[in-house]
Amino acid sequence: MGWEIPHKPYRIKVVEEISIPSREERIDRIKKAGYNVFNLRAEDIYVDLLTDSGTGAMSQEQWAALMRGDESYAGSRSFARFEKAVRDIFGFRHILPTHQGRGAENVLFSSTVKPGDIVPNNMHFDTTRANVLANGGDPVDLVIDDAYDPQKPHPFKGNMDTAKLTALIEEAGRDRIPLIMMTITNNSGGGQPVSMKNLRAVSEIARRYEIPFFIDACRYAENIYFIREREKGYSDLPPIEIAREIFSLADGMTMSAKKDGLANIGGILATNNEEIFNRARERLILMEGFPTYGGLAGRDLEAIAVGLYEALDPAYLADRIGQTRYLGEGLKSVGIPIVEPIGGHAVYIDVKGLIPDFPQRLFPALSFAVELYIEAGVRAVEVGSVMFAHTDEAGNEVYPRLELVRLAIPRRTYTRTHLDAVIEGAAAVAKRKDELPGYRIIAGEGPLRHFTARFERIER
Ligand code: F0G
Repeated sequence: MGWEIPHKPYRIKVVEEISIPSREERIDRIKKAGYNVFNLRAEDIYVDLLTDSGTGAMSQEQWAALMRGDESYAGSRSFARFEKAVRDIFGFRHILPTHQGRGAENVLFSSTVKPGDIVPNNMHFDTTRANVLANGGDPVDLVIDDAYDPQKPHPFKGNMDTAKLTALIEEAGRDRIPLIMMTITNNSGGGQPVSMKNLRAVSEIARRYEIPFFIDACRYAENIYFIREREKGYSDLPPIEIAREIFSLADGMTMSAKKDGLANIGGILATNNEEIFNRARERLILMEGFPTYGGLAGRDLEAIAVGLYEALDPAYLADRIGQTRYLGEGLKSVGIPIVEPIGGHAVYIDVKGLIPDFPQRLFPALSFAVELYIEAGVRAVEVGSVMFAHTDEAGNEVYPRLELVRLAIPRRTYTRTHLDAVIEGAAAVAKRKDELPGYRIIAGEGPLRHFTARFERIER
């Protein structure tokens, strides 16, 4: 495979039964779901790679911690443990729990963004984009150009183009930019990492213009794996020290604890900025809950406090990234183009590269995802025109540069046998790529339409 498959740093103590419906059943189920995999029932799925968000297995230590949950409304011991862990790793003064990542985004952006404002990010994730838009802001993606070339081998393809950032600030004026964000790893761009050097450069620009700098830290531990692997001077540092260095560059963070918090639910908003904190705390009480629980049960806070440390274990990270690489290398070995280098949490099939003559208006990546379910009972998600195409001010349809199918791997959940089934299924779909049908939306609109839309098949 060209790299060493790491040892598995855990064994399985509790199992969850799954089964695989027949091909006829799968055809029936996906049709009834309006060809939208979000509408499928989980029990009709064999390997579920829809998301790595909240779908992982918790450790015995996390399950044990649940029993310590202190469900006091205010000032619980669980909050104290959560706060201590978050402060230890990320270093921020003010720490607010939220029900999940988008809760933190909602609280942050509704406290900072007003109509006409601009929020630069290397690349906004869909809920981040939608939360900026919901507050009248303009989310602008400033990732380096190489990120849009699926085969370009850049070690830190999630980096922000700092020249573009400076130009945007100069042009728009700093008063219209309430904060600068960086998403590590860059989910929408293929789970690609950001280098420490780039984080430092963005931080310096933010400080020069006195604009708060926030990190979307969903997959920060995976990003640290890549920094250790690829950036000079970091290979021997413990991940937690690298984390402290990263977050010392920022004024705050949002995070979904469903990713590198290794929990099934939860989010974090943390900052050193007093003004933002005070406003955010008000919003939090209104929308999420009292500041010591923020929409979570005390036991959830406990699971996060333990999970945050487990995600920084080098053996865990090697196994995690190793699984993603195994899947990615396997797909390549059967001739399927993927976004490269292989990212942290997911493999992204480059459907435009596989079927270049499939018009984007007919949703090629959706078509591949539907077929993968029919072929192998595997659920993957479209990250292409269903998710990102939109109508511009002149009334023209604007299509994204990439048509991807994302195979996100839940943490500590599947074995190599499952991943082999995914590779075989994808190979079978790729074989009949010229027969895949096009699709048309028959219900669903707006920036979050991919969650609810229904489709019908049309000729290509
Ligand atoms: N930011 C990033 C980079 C994300 O990937 C996500 C979620 C969020 C914010 C929002 O967090 O789901 O807890 O509200 N990503 C999931 C995914 C849903 O499938 O990639 P959330």
